[in-house]
Amino acid sequence: MEKSINIFENIDDLSTFFARQLIKRIQNIPEGQFFSMALSGGSTPKAVFQSLALNFGNQIAWGKIRIFWGDERCVAPENKESNYRMAKESLLDQVPIPVNNIFRIKGEANPSYEADRYAKVVSQHVSSQNNIPQFDFMMLGLGDDGHTASIFPGNLRLFSSDKLFEVAEHPQTKQKRITATGKLINQALTVAFLASGDSKSVMVSTVLDRKKEWEKLPASLVHPKNGELFWLLDEKAASKTQKFR
Ligand code: 6PG
Repeated sequence: MEKSINIFENIDDLSTFFARQLIKRIQNIPEGQFFSMALSGGSTPKAVFQSLALNFGNQIAWGKIRIFWGDERCVAPENKESNYRMAKESLLDQVPIPVNNIFRIKGEANPSYEADRYAKVVSQHVSSQNNIPQFDFMMLGLGDDGHTASIFPGNLRLFSSDKLFEVAEHPQTKQKRITATGKLINQALTVAFLASGDSKSVMVSTVLDRKKEWEKLPASLVHPKNGELFWLLDEKAASKTQKFR
């Protein structure tokens, strides 16, 4: 696994780097094939989506991208909590991506049924390596508690599940979530971990500098075995990590 830590002054610079990585990879996709991308929820991903829509709406071959999600809240698609709604409003409605290229997790469905259904959808529409679907590009956010996707501390069994998607539960709100597991996350060709703002600085440092109990954090388990891991941070999120010296 190749890992790089990239620190930016602001979200626009971070988003420009993100977009250029996408453009570079999509250019290598043979004619007739698709680039599979799993989106994340969260405030940093949302800011990146908005920047992509504003600055790269006509520079990315959106018709070559198939859009999936790494996790979703178990709510209806029009609910303000929905990751699908957030991505739709901040990016997908603003760029020329065919609706048939978008494969949302049905947050309104029965959670365990949907986890299985969506695993089948991903298996059907994302090419596999060693019988595990391999996303070309996976976005991840970092929770203040070290969670990623919807795998929360204390629930690492979801990361090591043999399934592709599992039902998770938010530890405070008890909201059900559908989440990709480590089996899928660590299979991706490229994983982009996005974090911005002061509130992320402690967790970023805990994970990157392997501070006390770092190994108990889901975010610490993200190691795309045959891929690249990009940490994309703004200066505030990186302010406590030794890598920023
Ligand atoms: C979700 C996300 C989650 C998110 C982190 C960071 O459904 O909420 O997938 O993993 O990326 O919680 O979110 P913030 O950047 O908003 O803190």
